[in-house]
Amino acid sequence: MKEMAVELGDRSYPIFIGDGLLSSKQIWSRLCRTGQIMVVSNETIAPLYLNQVMDALAPRKISTVVLSDGEKYKTLDAFNQVITQLLEKAYSRDCTLVALGGGVVGDITGFAAACYQRGVDYIQVPTTLLSQVDSAVGGKTAVNHMLGKNMIGVFYQPVAVIADTQVLSTLPDREMSAGLAEVIKYGLIRDPDFFCWLENNIERLLARDTTCLVHAIEQSCRNKSDIVSLDERESGIRAILNFGHTFGHAIETATSYTQFLHGEAIAIGMLMAADLSKRHGWLSAESVERVWKLLNRANLPIGLPTKLKAEELRAIMAIDKKARNAKLFLVLLKQIGEAFLTDQYREELLTDTLSEFILAGG
Ligand code: NAD
Ligand code: GLY
Repeated sequence: MKEMAVELGDRSYPIFIGDGLLSSKQIWSRLCRTGQIMVVSNETIAPLYLNQVMDALAPRKISTVVLSDGEKYKTLDAFNQVITQLLEKAYSRDCTLVALGGGVVGDITGFAAACYQRGVDYIQVPTTLLSQVDSAVGGKTAVNHMLGKNMIGVFYQPVAVIADTQVLSTLPDREMSAGLAEVIKYGLIRDPDFFCWLENNIERLLARDTTCLVHAIEQSCRNKSDIVSLDERESGIRAILNFGHTFGHAIETATSYTQFLHGEAIAIGMLMAADLSKRHGWLSAESVERVWKLLNRANLPIGLPTKLKAEELRAIMAIDKKARNAKLFLVLLKQIGEAFLTDQYREELLTDTLSEFILAGG
């Protein structure tokens, strides 16, 4: 088992990574010494893994909340289900919530923990690769509003993260690849050696080789926790974690969240950001080729549906910033392993990138 810390002073917390950790009585005993415990999961994950967690926590008395599965249920209603259950069971301020699931369950549970009686402890037990390498670490919690994704939320750090590689055995292949997009992101934005390691091991990761998974999750969490420790509330460097995301969110919105998983949209977005960096002479053509090859080998999409329009995507990309009356900043690359935030890109080159990717999709 690997253990590392997210360093945030008196709010620092451990991340445990390894095979079979869900059943580790040792870890659970270390984390849950006193107080009531409530496990929040969903209808897909609970039948697979809830019993393992309950057995490991026995003989403590545990309540459970099983939410509906899907991004469309990441709402105030789901949040309210958790809060109602806590109140009905008279949970006090020293209770601990356990988020057993992917990013959706993690974000809802974190937000409920932040709000219940002005803040109680929660433990992230991420069950998708994406949540193990990204959403469970760093304390962003939220639910969606019908007018915008993640629009209701707070920064609120968990007390621990338990990333068990064994649970990834039941993850659908497409979700696995989507998680790999975020893993590849860390190599691209700040860790060139890790990018090379991924080039040598991507097929072993797809085959869910445990040793490789532990290494990839550890390296991803190390990169993320370094950034979060420097800039917890995203007033500066944390923005580079959004590499590919401005493009990716526009793709998700333009396709009504039906065509691509989040990680898939981010993969296309990262390639677009690399392409735009090349058009400015900041990144070599050879590096873009390496990005393209690795994403392709990870079974990630690399083009957009031809029915989209470049102007439509550009308009969606601008929406957030327009509201704030600011110029659109993008995270671009100087080389593999070095990202930077800039508004000094040329608009016509951005249009060329958008148009080229729409053509490639056909
Ligand atoms: P998800 O939580 O919807 O999980 C994907 C699917 O896989 C779901 O159907 C889920 O039930 C299923 N699943 C999960 N674990 C499984 C397992 N072990 N075996 C079989 N099936 C399993 O999606 P996700 O990709 O984990 O997370 C996406 C969410 O995370 C989005 O809501 C996004 O906004 C959020 N997010 C948050 C942050 C953050 O910093 N808080 C960062 C990135 C993404
Ligand atoms: N997923 C981006 C962040 O945590 O900042």
